[in-house]
Amino acid sequence: MKTYRIGVIGLGQRIAHVLLAMRDEGWRYEVVAHLDPAPVGQPILAAAGVEMGIPCESKAELAARGPFDLLMIGSPNHLHLQHLEFALSVGCPVFTEKPIVRTEAESLALAAKLARAQTPPLFVGLVMRSMPIVQEVIRRVDAGQLGRLVSMDATEHLHPEHGGYLARNWRRRKDWGGSYLLDKVCHDFDIFNRLAGSRPARVASFGGRSIFTPDEAGRARTWDDGQPAYVMHDPGWAGANDAFHSDMDVTDHQTAMIEYGGGLRLSFHANSHVALQERRWYLAGTEGTLVADLVRNRLTFRRALSRGRPEKMEFGHLTDDNHNGADQAMARDLKATLETGAAFPVTPADSLIAGLTVMALDRAMDEGRVVDCAPLWAAYDAAASGDG
Ligand SMILES: NC(=O)c1ccc[n+]([C@@H]2O[C@H](COP(=O)([O-])OP(=O)(O)OC[C@H]3O[C@@H](n4cnc5c(N)ncnc54)[C@H](O)[C@@H]3O)[C@@H](O)[C@H]2O)c1
Repeated sequence: MKTYRIGVIGLGQRIAHVLLAMRDEGWRYEVVAHLDPAPVGQPILAAAGVEMGIPCESKAELAARGPFDLLMIGSPNHLHLQHLEFALSVGCPVFTEKPIVRTEAESLALAAKLARAQTPPLFVGLVMRSMPIVQEVIRRVDAGQLGRLVSMDATEHLHPEHGGYLARNWRRRKDWGGSYLLDKVCHDFDIFNRLAGSRPARVASFGGRSIFTPDEAGRARTWDDGQPAYVMHDPGWAGANDAFHSDMDVTDHQTAMIEYGGGLRLSFHANSHVALQERRWYLAGTEGTLVADLVRNRLTFRRALSRGRPEKMEFGHLTDDNHNGADQAMARDLKATLETGAAFPVTPADSLIAGLTVMALDRAMDEGRVVDCAPLWAAYDAAASGDG
């Protein structure tokens, strides 16, 4: 069995978890070298007995440690484009975490680069695409079980500790993370685009910061079992000490609406401080209704004119991080892609379009208007065809 030689750029919590999921799925690998000034993933790998390889001071030093079978990027979002440009120049397959890049300009630049140059294979960690429950939702919609998809609503509501982590971690700042929705739910909008089968035509969004603010700093900081609140998880690279007194400039709650070119209408609600966690998609079609509960990993379906009991499918594999086996499923998909040429479930183009969708929502929120997406898609299509 092949032993993969892996290089890592940005060895944080995420890449550490992906490496462990790969090991769970039977990958044999050696992390040969990494480029990261202070790897946040170190304790996670150390606890699992995985070596981190040689620390490198520069991209050139990392490249010289090759050859690699896979380069993995898990740096903060503002560094993705420059790390991708470097990694794609090395010549081996590249895996990068989502969001693929952080801004509209970066999206167009990367689309143009991918169109113009013959680049190595690029895989993006939009891990929900690999989840069995998500694949089942896509299968049922594609098979026409719901008839024509008319409207849907979706949520992603986070536990207060998760929200507190976002308010202290680098994701709290637009210039590092992009936005709350971009970092947290570009996954979901990628799937919504896939289900809609078309691109957003018009978008609107309202959101703001009214939880993790200095005005709220006096709230109770202790759970009812006496444990301290809002301090779980090391805030990591460029972390802030206090969730309520940081320099956060992204939203902590946001709503969004999309009208797709194909007709589907969608509303979305995200909040980073809830007592009842939820990540749920409610799909209403002419012939049936489907609810995907991504926290409980459960799908419910009933035909529109059925008086029978709803059909329920349990996907199990519940885990505390709510990834519910997604990382392992993605590790299997990546292995199959590299070893048999099987298609990876998401493409760089899907990832760019998902990111641009969220960026359009954020623009609508920032500018207080409904955004017509046509100019954005014209610019993207020009870049992606090499004319940009
Ligand atoms: N697919 C998912 O479900 C998922 C989940 C979590 C995070 N992510 C993504 O993974 C990426 C990393 O997130 P994370 O939670 O691991 O963050 P993290 O803070 O744990 O890790 C980021 C790492 O990047 C390193 N870094 C900072 N500057 C660097 C530089 N100039 N060069 C190289 N490394 C540098 C930091 O030292 C840190 O070790 C982000 O893009 C995030 O959006 C994806």
